Amino acid sequence: MRPYNVDHVAIAVHDLDEAIDRHQRLFGAEPQWRELVEEQGVEEAMIAIGGSYIQLLTPTAPDTPVGRFLDKYGEGVHHIAYAVHDIEEALADLESEGARLVDETPRVGGRGARIAFVHPAAFAGTLIELVELAHD
Ligand code: CO
Repeated sequence: MRPYNVDHVAIAVHDLDEAIDRHQRLFGAEPQWRELVEEQGVEEAMIAIGGSYIQLLTPTAPDTPVGRFLDKYGEGVHHIAYAVHDIEEALADLESEGARLVDETPRVGGRGARIAFVHPAAFAGTLIELVELAHD
C-alpha cells in the first residue's frame, strides 16, 4: 500500500473559533469549510495549505475520543491522514503486515470520504487515518 498524498494533519483544540482566528492571524490561511461529524463527535475546520489541509478538530462533548485526548494530553497534533486510492486494499495490506487497526472496515468521515484509523501501536505512537476521497 502506498499513500498518494498527506490529506491532512489534524490538530485538536479546545475552542475552534479561537483556533481558526489565531491560525489565520499567524499563518494567513482561512478555512475552506467547517463540518460537524456527529458520528465521530467532532467539529472540524479544513485549512488548505498546498495540496494538503490542516484540520482543526474540536470535540462536541467531553466523553468522545477527541474530548478524552484533550483531557489527557491537551491541545496538539491528533493524527495524520494519508490519502489512498483503495481503502480496502490498504487495510488488507496493513493487516497482512500485522498492523493493529482501530477500524477493520471503513466508515464515513468528513466530505463523505471513506476513512479508517490505524492504531498508534502500529507506527511510532502516531494515530494514522486512511482517507479514500469520494471523487477518487
Ligand atoms: Co482526520
